Parts: sequence; structure tokens; C-alpha cells
Amino acid sequence: MQTRTIRLTSGADLDGFRAAIRHLVPAGVPPEAVTWVEGDAASLFAEDAPAEPGSALVLPRAVAELVPPVVMHRDPERYGLLHRLIWRVARGERHLAEVASDPLVHRLTLMRKAVARDLHKMHAFLRFRRSGAGEGGRERFAAWFEPEHHILAEAAPFFAARFPSFDWSILTPDGSAHWDGRALHVGPPGRREDVPEHDAFEAGWTDYYSSTFNPARTNLAAMRAEMPKKYWHNMPETAAIPGLVREAGRRVGEMIARAPEAPVKRVPARALAAMAAQEPASLEALNAVIRASEPLVPGATQAVLGEGPLGAAIALVGEQPGDQEDLQGRPFVGPAGQLLARALREAGIDRSQAYLTNAVKHFKFEVRGKRRIHQKPTAGEVAHYRWWLDRELAFVAPRLVVALGATAVLALTGRQVPITRARGPAAFEGKPYPGFVTVHPSYLLRLPDEARGEAYAGFVEDLRRAATLAADPASRVGMAG
Ligand code: URA
Repeated sequence: MQTRTIRLTSGADLDGFRAAIRHLVPAGVPPEAVTWVEGDAASLFAEDAPAEPGSALVLPRAVAELVPPVVMHRDPERYGLLHRLIWRVARGERHLAEVASDPLVHRLTLMRKAVARDLHKMHAFLRFRRSGAGEGGRERFAAWFEPEHHILAEAAPFFAARFPSFDWSILTPDGSAHWDGRALHVGPPGRREDVPEHDAFEAGWTDYYSSTFNPARTNLAAMRAEMPKKYWHNMPETAAIPGLVREAGRRVGEMIARAPEAPVKRVPARALAAMAAQEPASLEALNAVIRASEPLVPGATQAVLGEGPLGAAIALVGEQPGDQEDLQGRPFVGPAGQLLARALREAGIDRSQAYLTNAVKHFKFEVRGKRRIHQKPTAGEVAHYRWWLDRELAFVAPRLVVALGATAVLALTGRQVPITRARGPAAFEGKPYPGFVTVHPSYLLRLPDEARGEAYAGFVEDLRRAATLAADPASRVGMAG
């Protein structure tokens, strides 16, 4: 058998791999005949990946979606493993990528998950430090980060969208990314010493972290899992952790003694400003910012935060808290919530194991007599809260997200879609989780009695389907977009 050595550029060379595989597989070159080398590890006989497109190689979506994240993985065998997968798919195993028990698919799936986790950590734990003046007097910031995988190019657009108004550089041991207010540029590896050790944000971060740290919920194992120690040296707020943990016991005692008159904690304005310019590192940190923010439309008693375990199989997104939710500070406790609880039970979903939240976190209402009448949030208000919802769901990382009604669909997709058209399994574009669209329980409450029974049964059936999809990823194959 003739063997070939294909050279790709170091890092995640998706274009090179695609070009090569489009030649190799249609030409019948099996995986065992190919050695993939990266960058300078060139052998005398290495060929560059072909520049012209090869023949069309039509791959099932599940395979096409697996390729980019696996290419970002640092495992030197990644290209060979993908070649083996594509080879088998092209030879007739069309549904191979959905066979979770296949050892090759299992390994590639773990690689995809590791890359997704790494991206999440980079988004959450990267900290910019002020590093001088940029072009035209713009402020300049720099950050040092050590990703586990080759994710810099994938992660950088997130920071360009989040921080468009200052110039910044992200330096990593593998490469760098630079934003000048107009475009992203990639550059050579950086050095940690090129990023200032301290800056003015730090005080804000440390204040913020200390003021939102809840000593009664100190759980070191969970903290380490959420914010692994290796990221701490880049995160100024972590300097406060050892002291806070040492003090936790005493502070809990004080909290118990003071409980009846304990004031609602407000995050200092300076810390909030620092927070808004950075990325919360945990759901608790995110919730603290939401709790401390003013409602977009005045009147609400408090922000109503999501409720349920991290890693819940199902997350359900409603519209906004109602009157009862606003008073009690918990989602879905009023009439619509009670109907939802009953439907969940009948669909076999344990409410305490699901994550319940809303697109909008504050109650918007109009006073009529003694009653506070719910007002539908505008598209602008939904967009305002969307940043929070996205991050909240990223921390919860559910296996499936159920949108209850049109406002939830708008929040999750940015699009106004009639429920009648969207109802059922859905892919929410750009979201890492599959979705499911159904009606809002309040809609059922508004129906005339004679129509409610059938509509309710349809709602329970939807929830049952959603539970099946969340429990068995294989049943999601062929889901409509
Ligand atoms: N309706 C919602 O959408 N959410 C709630 O929490 C309560 C009612």
C-alpha cells in the first residue's frame, strides 16, 4: 500500500484538512495509508494539503458538525481519527456519528465536549487589563490566557462583539488575537509578561466578588469545578477567595443572628460597572448582577432568577415573572406556574430536576384598581435581557431547552415566529443545545373552557416529547431547524 504524508499548518487547520480529505476519500486512500503532520514537523516526503477543491464529499450533518471542534482539539491524532470516521461514513455507515457506543464516535464526542468546555472557560475566565492608549486615543487592554485546545480563532469574535469599543489583544502561548475597533487580526504567540500584572479593574472585581460571595453556600469542591484553580492567576477576584473561605464560618453565624432584619444586598455601583465590562465566572456571579440591576421598566419588587440544578436535562424558558412570582421572587409559582407544574408531572418530568427561568427577569405591569395586570414585554425589552439568558443557559448547560411561548422563542432565536409554525423540536441557531417549542401555560388559562382540555393534552404531549428528546440524543436525529 502506498503511504502518504500530509502536512497541515499547526493549530486548527480546518481548511487544510477539508481540502485534503476531499481528495483522499474519493480517491480511495484509506486512513491507515495517511500520516498527518503539523507545522514544522515536516518530513522530506510530506505533501501540502491540496490548494484546489477536491470532488464534492457530501457528509451527514452530524459528521460535518463534529469536524470543526475536533480539529480544534490538541490531540495529535485528531486528523487521523476524523479520516477514519469520514472513511467509514463514505463507505456506507451513513449514521455512524449517531452511534454513541461506537468507540471512535465516543472518543470524538469527548473531544468535541472538551473543546466546548474550553471555549466556555475562555469566555468566562479571560480578564482584560488596561495596557495603555490605543489608536486615536482609544483605551487599550490586554489579556493572557492559556487555552487547552486550539480555540483562539473561534473564541476571539465573542470578545469583539462584547468589547467593540476599546482596542484589545489576547495573548496565548499558541498565538494572539488583536482587535482595533474594526477588524480582528491574528498574530504570533505572546508572552505572559507582555500583559500588565495589575490594573484598575481589579479593585472593582474583588469588591464585586466579595460582596456577592455567600458564605452560607461555601462549597469548595463546587467552586473548584466551576472555576478551576489553574485560571485563578488571571482573575483578580480570586485573591479574595482564601480569606472569604476562612471567614465563612464566622459570617454564617452572624447572618443567622441578623437574619430577621438582613437588608437586601446591593452591589456597589463601581463593582457593577467593572462587572458589566467583564464576563461573570459563574451562575451565582451572573445572578448577583441581575439581582442588583434596576428593572428596565420600573415597578417590579425584585428580579426573579432562574431556579433548578446546573446540568438539568431540561430547561424551560417562560416570558416574564407574573404578580405572584414578583412578590415571592421565584419563577412559575402563580396560576400559570401551577398549571405548568401539573403538566410537568403528567409528562413524567420532575420539576425539581428541571431548570425554570424567564426571558425577562422583572415583572412588567399596569395598575388597574387594586390589581397589577401583566404587560407583554416589547422586543426591545426582550433583547435587553437576552445577554443574561444566554449566559444563564450556558452555565446551566441543559441537554434541551423548551421555549414556552413566542416571547421565549424571540429571546432564544432573536426572531418573531408564530408558535403554530415553530411548535415541536427546533434547532436554535448558534445555540449549543437543541430546542423545543411549545405554547405558554398562560395561553391555556386564557382559552375558553371547552377548548382547554384538548389544548392542555397537547401541551402535556409536547412536554413528554421534549423529555424523550432530552433523555435520548439519538432520537433528535432529523430534527427540523
Ligand atoms: N409566566 C412566565 O412566563 N413566567 C413565570 O415565571 C410566571 C408566569
